Amino acid sequence: MVCIGVIGAMEEEVASLIKQMDDAEKKTMAGMSFYRGTLWKQQAVVVQSGIGKVNMAICTQILVDVYEVDMVINTGVAGGLYKDIRLGDIVISSDALQHDMDVGGLGYERGVIPGMKESIFKADTELVEMAKEACEIVNPEINCYVGRVVSGDQFISDNATKKELVGLFGGYCAEMEGAAMAQVASLNHVPFVIIRAISDNADDGAAVAYNTFEEQAIIHTVKLLAATFLKMNR
Ligand code: ADE
Repeated sequence: MVCIGVIGAMEEEVASLIKQMDDAEKKTMAGMSFYRGTLWKQQAVVVQSGIGKVNMAICTQILVDVYEVDMVINTGVAGGLYKDIRLGDIVISSDALQHDMDVGGLGYERGVIPGMKESIFKADTELVEMAKEACEIVNPEINCYVGRVVSGDQFISDNATKKELVGLFGGYCAEMEGAAMAQVASLNHVPFVIIRAISDNADDGAAVAYNTFEEQAIIHTVKLLAATFLKMNR
């Protein structure tokens, strides 16, 4: 049976997953608590990485090296960038990049990591399809988009930065970890997908919306994950 690594940055994003695990065995590494057990009939390791790209990179590499996971999934909330997207909707990553990687002073385009073969990391198409089908079944009241996730160590909460991210990258949502997981997974040849529910619109009203809608948004990602896991059993 395959083993799935599931990573959320914040406690709220993983708490209900950990509660639903059977026979979970906890181990702490790099200050992060890893729970290995059975989740919705699949072998899984669930972990809270903490916020930001560095935490996510460390966490993903531990899942690869210590737990030898067969795939990694990042779940959580994000700020909406795509024009039609609404609070509570879901974005499943087509690919992911780091919007705050900026070596423009040496002539590189924003988002390009000098010296790397690629800077845009493509999600596993089978995982994307499975998650999209699952979402349409369990969350019929919302829209589910497959699109680009842009990550950076910034909470995006102003209209000008939002406009810039849309213009430069065509991002569907902005968050703070996904592309770091994507980079580590790609370098280790491990399939990945990022699943994010929209908690705010990454604009001037982002902080207020975030505090109001975060909880509801997480309910959508948890339902989607459960349905995706059950699909894998078939
Ligand atoms: N996570 C949720 N909303 C976000 C935003 N607006 N910017 C970055 N990360 C987020």
